[in-house]
Amino acid sequence: MKTMPYSTLITSIEKAIFIITVNRPEKLNALNSQVMTELSEVFKEVETNPEIKAVIITGAGSKAFVAGADISEFVGLSNGEGMDLARRGHEIFFKIENCRKPVVAAVNGFALGGGCELAMACHFRIASDNARFGQPEVNLGLIPGYGGTQRLVQLIGKGRALQLLMTGNMIDAQTAMQYGLVNEVTTQEEVINKAKTILEIIISKAPLAISRCISAANAVFNGTRSGYDIEIEAFGDCFESEDMKEGTTAFLEKRIPVFKGN
Ligand code: COA
Repeated sequence: MKTMPYSTLITSIEKAIFIITVNRPEKLNALNSQVMTELSEVFKEVETNPEIKAVIITGAGSKAFVAGADISEFVGLSNGEGMDLARRGHEIFFKIENCRKPVVAAVNGFALGGGCELAMACHFRIASDNARFGQPEVNLGLIPGYGGTQRLVQLIGKGRALQLLMTGNMIDAQTAMQYGLVNEVTTQEEVINKAKTILEIIISKAPLAISRCISAANAVFNGTRSGYDIEIEAFGDCFESEDMKEGTTAFLEKRIPVFKGN
């Protein structure tokens, strides 16, 4: 399958798993406006291309996943421009968080600032043993602007999050796993394979049920509607799907289900 060309991202697809590699290794894959635009574009492709069943996001090179937003683009911004930058970052990272297909971050090195925020917008994270996580924005007189103050608290709790946010310190992969920020730690060579192995299991399940797991889990943090109500609706919707009929029938007939995604 041919996917769209991007100038700051490398994309490839293998067995329905789409790998997006942020490709600015000379700048430790920092998120400049071009990368952000292309991340937005690539997630349109993810949503619309039926051949893509799951996504891995990683960084080019052996040193960094993403070392942050591109600091050189911050110089001279006004209050309003800063707000616009954050709004746009939120919009793109919400798109990733609310993607109907599973998205995993394969964190292969530094995940700092916007890089940690990008990893946190993914549905879960696998890290290599050289990965480092942090929100060092206070060193620049800033705070995270791409959702980091919210998702870090959601993932590791307020006390640990505030310590990281206020010190700007980095944590290593093992500490990130102990905190619940990453699910597994592997060698750098294995990080993509580990993510693929988990995604292969996920994409063998009913796709609509997977999408509803994502939306119901995201609803925990929806300030306007109860996640329990969203779960009730999503659970009910499952009963209208062919895959639910197939899954339950296959169980009762003691055979492996064949899911079709409808
Ligand atoms: N924005 C722009 N450029 C960045 C960057 C960022 N967030 N992170 C790294 N780079 C660039 C460096 O400026 C350098 O470019 P140069 O070779 O043209 O000078 C290149 O990437 C390599 O980084 P360097 O700092 O030389 O590598 P290092 O191994 O000494 O340090 C880090 C690695 C990650 C500790 C360091 O790059 C760093 O602190 N980066 C910024 C992290 C940050 O504050 N992120 C939050 C931004 S809001």
